[in-house]
Amino acid sequence: MSQAGGGGSVAGGDGTLALVENAGGPVATVTVNRPAALNALDAATLNALLGAFTGLAAEPGVRCVILTGGGDKAFVAGADIKSMAAMTPAEAGALAAISHRLGEVMAGMPAPAIAAVGGFALGGGCELALYCDFIYASRTAKFGLPEVGLGVIPGLGGTQRLPRRVGLARASELLFTGAVIDADEALRIGLVNAVFEPAALLPRVRAVADAIASRAPLAVAAAKRAAREGAELPLAAAIEHERALFSGLFGTADQREGMRAFVEKRPAAWSGR
Ligand code: CAA
Repeated sequence: MSQAGGGGSVAGGDGTLALVENAGGPVATVTVNRPAALNALDAATLNALLGAFTGLAAEPGVRCVILTGGGDKAFVAGADIKSMAAMTPAEAGALAAISHRLGEVMAGMPAPAIAAVGGFALGGGCELALYCDFIYASRTAKFGLPEVGLGVIPGLGGTQRLPRRVGLARASELLFTGAVIDADEALRIGLVNAVFEPAALLPRVRAVADAIASRAPLAVAAAKRAAREGAELPLAAAIEHERALFSGLFGTADQREGMRAFVEKRPAAWSGR
């Protein structure tokens, strides 16, 4: 991908639909960029996101990714209803498969991803936010899975990831009613980690991303793996998985440096090895 020195096009998709900026630094921002359609996800936009995240996952210098929506109204207002309206089952399944691949790439990349939701995160938009490791919202954000009002169900992972994030009963309420909730309610049920004034959202998310990027890269990546992969395992297997990841960090340059820096009362200088 070309992203050195700031924004750029991405391999595997239309780079104008998913803008990648990192200015050569450790924090990258991906912006879903279809504001005229409230950033609705058609196949081209999903492919652009897949290209963007596949590229970022292969960039060792990228330590945290912020995902947000272009324009001031929406994170993403869902999968593109106009392009889905006449789809066959096979076509709908193929669209979902692109998105599932995106979710896998985001889960598997070493850098954590944070969703910065500043408006509508409905349907596929809520599902896309759930691909991120956690979500921050502006006071004006709205969340929901309104698909049952369109004759379908969430198809980009929402029926599975929302229950895992907020619990089966709260997720079922949202899934069966299609209700749209505001940011405070999303905070209350644990869908988002914090709510900020609109102008403060991106600076606050950026500060958290910078904090993550300042930590030992292999350790952050291992913590992400332990938490994500462990969540899918029985407790004993998850604890064993943690033990393997924990012990595997010993002997790395950053483990030696981090512990030596503590003893020597100085900041650590990470090498990512
Ligand atoms: N797909 C396609 N276009 C969309 C869209 C979507 N999901 N959401 C908004 N748009 C388009 C609108 O059609 C409109 O375009 P035109 O001007 O060309 O008509 C433009 O974006 C602006 O939208 P509105 O005029 O509707 O804006 P609003 O402020 O009045 O309403 C809204 C905002 C409440 C979010 C409303 O747009 C809305 O309800 N959008 C659909 C939300 C939704 O149902 N999402 C789930 C989609 S299904 C899904 O995601 C399935 C899945 O899991 C795979």
